[in-house]
Amino acid sequence: MTYTFPDFFFWGAATSSYQIEGAIAAEGRKPSVWDRFAATPGRVLNGDTGAIACDHYHRFREDVTLMADLGIRHYRFSIAWPRVIPDGRGAVNEAGVDFYRRLVDCLEEHGITPYATLFHWDSPQALEDRYGSWRSREMAQDFAEYVAAVVERLGDRISHWITLNEIACFTHLGYGVGQIPPHAPGTVVATPKDVWQTSHHALLGHGLACQAIRAASPIPCAVALVDNYAVTVPLAETPEHITAAQVAFHTAWANGGILFPALTGAYSPLLLEKLGADAPDIQDGDLQTICQPLDVLGLNVYSGSYVRAADNADGFETLPFPASYPRLHMPWLWVVPDALYWGVRHVSEVLGHRQLSIWVTENGCAVEDVLTEQGEVLDCDRILYLRQHLQAAHRAVSEGYPLGGYFVWSLLDNFEWAWGHDRRFGLTYVDFDTQQRIPKASARWYAECIRQNRVV
Ligand code: FCB
Repeated sequence: MTYTFPDFFFWGAATSSYQIEGAIAAEGRKPSVWDRFAATPGRVLNGDTGAIACDHYHRFREDVTLMADLGIRHYRFSIAWPRVIPDGRGAVNEAGVDFYRRLVDCLEEHGITPYATLFHWDSPQALEDRYGSWRSREMAQDFAEYVAAVVERLGDRISHWITLNEIACFTHLGYGVGQIPPHAPGTVVATPKDVWQTSHHALLGHGLACQAIRAASPIPCAVALVDNYAVTVPLAETPEHITAAQVAFHTAWANGGILFPALTGAYSPLLLEKLGADAPDIQDGDLQTICQPLDVLGLNVYSGSYVRAADNADGFETLPFPASYPRLHMPWLWVVPDALYWGVRHVSEVLGHRQLSIWVTENGCAVEDVLTEQGEVLDCDRILYLRQHLQAAHRAVSEGYPLGGYFVWSLLDNFEWAWGHDRRFGLTYVDFDTQQRIPKASARWYAECIRQNRVV
């Protein structure tokens, strides 16, 4: 088996604004909820913040050149709402837009196609102060207006748009019942229903944004939602365990209340039954707004969970990971490469979307990288992880599922949210004192995969 991909398959790299840009007060940008969260003692490991991060705002030309040198021709990045509309609503900060214009022009000079995410968690603090961010329906409307402002200005040079990144992370991990949640804005709410209401508002924001992009884009464009739905993997590939994994998929984490309404126009009935009074309030017309036609679904996949058939009311059982199960440098990073394959296949077989193009918009791992005396990072653990996931991608493509491309997370070591600079996901090592970039062994390996269009 050579694991050669068809010609249409593309290879890319992904980043996000708050994790790499720094320059948090440059040229009119105002604080995001992550600036406030990171400045609050105890929220981020070692008190790290995104104030400087990879200083990409000033070093983007070097980073684009690095990508080009590796042969990466597809780049997913995100646009920071508080750079473009610093108060969240109202006046557009043209200097903030100009940064992204410079970035995209530089990408074009290097033959790299841009894929812009319009929201990767760094929402304006001003809207948190005004109405509690996603707790309010107003947030969806303000998001759509910001999206229209971006697409009106950059739509001549960007034709791949992603509305929101990982709704469950910035809602179900940003609003917590009874205890401070791990992600910004870090709001404690009274009931699980309050949390589900925030993800419902985010879904509305997604739907309105799809409409805004299509209305504002001067050229034909592709519109995507990126989700990190929880992937259930059958313990063995037999019909009974596959069915169990498919049923379990509905109620795994937030799938039934995020991916299901976005793709089918309805919350999963299995989830609604489980939620009872905790289900969000859904107004007339909301589900139609939410379920916009999509050109692509972006799957962010890092891990998965094993499921088997069981003789109980659910018909399945989700298995705990044994203590010795392989795990990389995050508490949740159990290595389950088959999750990539099943994540793609479930969209066809559980959600009935057999033709919807899928891109893996993030896949990668944190490992305990060490810079050797020779100045190398020999991350064969990361290569092992990526190789196995790309082999699973190859399987999905070979079986005819509509998987079109793959973005590795991430181009650079960066500000890893509540873990600060302590966890390194990059193909490129970043020395945060000197801002030196050093491509790791995995970067060279990935470059060779791209060159040969196969898993090497
Ligand atoms: C994803 C996020 C991304 C990064 C990776 C490790 O959930 O989208 O920003 O933090 O995890």
